[in-house]
Amino acid sequence: MQILHLDSSALGTASASRELTRTIVDTLALHHPRARVTHVDLDADPLPHLTERSLAKADPAEAARAERTLEDFLAADLLVIGAPMYNFGIPSTLKAWIDRVTVAGRTFRYTANGPEGLARGKRAILAISQGGVHAPGGPSDFQQRYLEFVLGFLGITDVHAVRAGGLALSAEHRERAMAEALAEARRVAGLPFALDRAA
Ligand SMILES: Cc1cc2nc3c(=O)[nH]c(=O)nc-3n(C[C@H](O)[C@H](O)[C@H](O)COP(=O)(O)O)c2cc1C
Repeated sequence: MQILHLDSSALGTASASRELTRTIVDTLALHHPRARVTHVDLDADPLPHLTERSLAKADPAEAARAERTLEDFLAADLLVIGAPMYNFGIPSTLKAWIDRVTVAGRTFRYTANGPEGLARGKRAILAISQGGVHAPGGPSDFQQRYLEFVLGFLGITDVHAVRAGGLALSAEHRERAMAEALAEARRVAGLPFALDRAA
């Protein structure tokens, strides 16, 4: 099994979503000792914004990195995505990654019957962190709902969300929310994995 572990928090060692993705990946490694993990830190090593020059592949180094990013995505059986809420959506570093993996003809295509995702057969676990409280699918949720939508567009519908909300409300809220989310992270990462092709 190939795991792609993405982090996008800008809060370094204080990050909640990084603690959750680490716990998810560590638990997966216990259950799948032969799994291979690729870790991409989109904050430490951000992808450039997608621009006209990117689409024209004007910079060979940027084009090569974009292709590697796409290949890492296509090779993954399981995505573990650290997705903090920043200004009601996801960090722009994570959006920059989505811009590199949402590629017509590679990961989706348009047909006479509408769009079709080409990245089927993958599973995703989202580590959702929020300072406030935003119900999934509620009016201020442009984070989890967006990620589930765009992953579904690419053909990935087996998506679990591990949620830690209300982290900025008080120290007690944070402690309780993180304890619950870490327990959920271990539970979700321990679920049997239907795609366990190569352990
Ligand atoms: C730049 C920035 C923007 C934020 N915007 C929001 C927001 O719109 N809504 C919210 O509930 N929390 C917001 N927060 C709080 C974060 O969601 C919270 O700190 C969470 O723990 C971030 O995850 P992380 O610790 O993994 O970075 C914001 C935090 C930062 C640093």
